Amino acid sequence: MAEKVVLAYSGGLDTSVAIRWIAKRYHMDVIALTVDLGSERDMPSIQQKALNVGAVKALVVDAKELFVKHFVFPALQADALYEGQYPLATALGRPLIAKLLVEAAKGEGAQAVAHGSTGKGNDQVRFDVSVSALAPHLKVIAPAREWGMTREEEIAYAQKHDIPIPVTAGSPYSIDENLWGRSIECGVLEDPWAEPPEEAFAWTKSPKDAPDEPRYVEIGFERGIPVSFDGRELDSVSLIQGLNELAGEHGVGRIDHVENRLVGIKSREVYEAPAATVLLKAHKALEAMTLSRDQLRFKERVAAEYAEIIYNGLWFTALHQDLAAYVVSTQRHVTGTVRLKLLKGNATVVGRKSSKSLYSFGLATYDKGDEFDQSASPGFIHIWGLPVKTQAQIQGLEQPEDLAGGR
Ligand code: ARG
Repeated sequence: MAEKVVLAYSGGLDTSVAIRWIAKRYHMDVIALTVDLGSERDMPSIQQKALNVGAVKALVVDAKELFVKHFVFPALQADALYEGQYPLATALGRPLIAKLLVEAAKGEGAQAVAHGSTGKGNDQVRFDVSVSALAPHLKVIAPAREWGMTREEEIAYAQKHDIPIPVTAGSPYSIDENLWGRSIECGVLEDPWAEPPEEAFAWTKSPKDAPDEPRYVEIGFERGIPVSFDGRELDSVSLIQGLNELAGEHGVGRIDHVENRLVGIKSREVYEAPAATVLLKAHKALEAMTLSRDQLRFKERVAAEYAEIIYNGLWFTALHQDLAAYVVSTQRHVTGTVRLKLLKGNATVVGRKSSKSLYSFGLATYDKGDEFDQSASPGFIHIWGLPVKTQAQIQGLEQPEDLAGGR
């Protein structure tokens, strides 16, 4: 009996060719697994295509809820943005797909899993490292890393083997999408000086064509998790889908990033992430009200580290577990509502409120009702500035030219 392999199957050209290529090269039975993370593809037709192309079985898993609950929301609570810009949609999706591949391999008695990533990107790392953490005995096959075909050769291979070539194969762009965002690479975007053409975008209106009237939205959070949208409680998947649509309509969420891949390449990446943009801003605004200055300062460092962990394929690690526990602990009072204004490409926080707010009107106001004791400030400043004064008196203050090493 032939050995079995479970392949993460998107229905696109690469993974379709991979079905045939693995069967021929490795003499294995290929089981296709398509994971729905919210990309609005037609699942039954993808399933049928996998079988037509030569898979012995085609599985589909709707993992939207799992994705949001266990991957997207923890990243939101952490305020994870890679290099301050990328909300990590693809990077969050890969470890979940890896987990589902491993589960399917167990269920089907397969000896290997496979994915369509090339040898130049981050995704191969995320898949391979995740599988090695979850099921070290499984072999991982990455055909696109092995076959050495150009795009043209791949199309020729598909024609020769009666593999239908999707219309998108003619598109100059490489796209990946899930609920948390859409990424666009290749074509003219490989010139970092070239402005992304309008046709590269699918989720967001051009800000110049977006409505002239602002749209206000209110996002309700409970312990750092968004639970309502304009006062209506919504399940997490619908909340993100609804926000992607609404914010996208207002041109919110376009990101143009020259990014550092783990494999040492700088690459120009364009993203559309309307819901992620709105929710990350809103969440940070609510944290600003409910966390102390010290918590905020420390959490920012954790956020940067957390983003690196996600980006670099280290989701299933002890360090991630440790930081995740810290992040959850920080969220226990991050409950309240944030109001944002969506207008022509911008999402601006214009209001926030929380029953756990640390903002005190009595302390902040310059008007009547001021409770702040200004007579206590000189004493505070005397002690705060004491080491500064002492050092300046004894050692003097070095001049800028000395600091620059002039003499
Ligand atoms: N640069 C992003 C990342 O590494 C997006 C990758 C998109 N992947 C893809 N196969 N098109 O997370």
